[in-house]
Amino acid sequence: MSRLRVGVLASGRGSNLQAILDATSREDFPACVVVVVSDRERAAALDRAARAGVPAVFLNPKDFADRAAYDLGLEQVLREHRVELVCLAGFMRILTAPFVRAFAGRILNIHPALLPAFPGLDAQRQALEYGVRVAGATVHFVDEGVDTGPIVLQASVPVHHDDTEESLSARILVEEHRLYPEAVRLFALGRVHVAGRCVRVEPER
Ligand code: GRF
Repeated sequence: MSRLRVGVLASGRGSNLQAILDATSREDFPACVVVVVSDRERAAALDRAARAGVPAVFLNPKDFADRAAYDLGLEQVLREHRVELVCLAGFMRILTAPFVRAFAGRILNIHPALLPAFPGLDAQRQALEYGVRVAGATVHFVDEGVDTGPIVLQASVPVHHDDTEESLSARILVEEHRLYPEAVRLFALGRVHVAGRCVRVEPER
């Protein structure tokens, strides 16, 4: 079985990266992580990659003139590693349109809210401040907007009356760690079909 080559972009602690690394470490998983790139030198995600024996690349934004140049650098690293699917896992930069087009239909992101509710930063806080009773996580394709692409998988969690941003985030994170590897698996198996805004996931045969 040839495994789908995944590149993960991460800026921070990398717990979603870890969930993907753990899943891909199983022999029967149809994808493998071939490179992890971060825009932050001290990102724990880079340590996690190194521990898993995966090339970990720090791409310093200061070495590039602007966002367009940075994204070209990013594209080059991903191409060098022959990446077939790009997974954003807490990557704190908005990708430029040419980058998104270069990997059209091959970039996934995880967002800690039930999109289209609460896109952008601090989604869990937005949910608490709005007073929703149900929150959750979304894996979606990345298009040229912010958290606007077609939705692949979602999972919901209850919001409790005494929730803090931390307690709600922790409950959502459990679902994130389950959803993201599952979305990668389905994509790798060719079971994810996009038609306009909508995604159809082929059932298991
Ligand atoms: C997660 O909550 C994810 O949904 C959001 O950023 C956070 C990243 O966490 N996009 P981690 O670095 O994967 O632990």
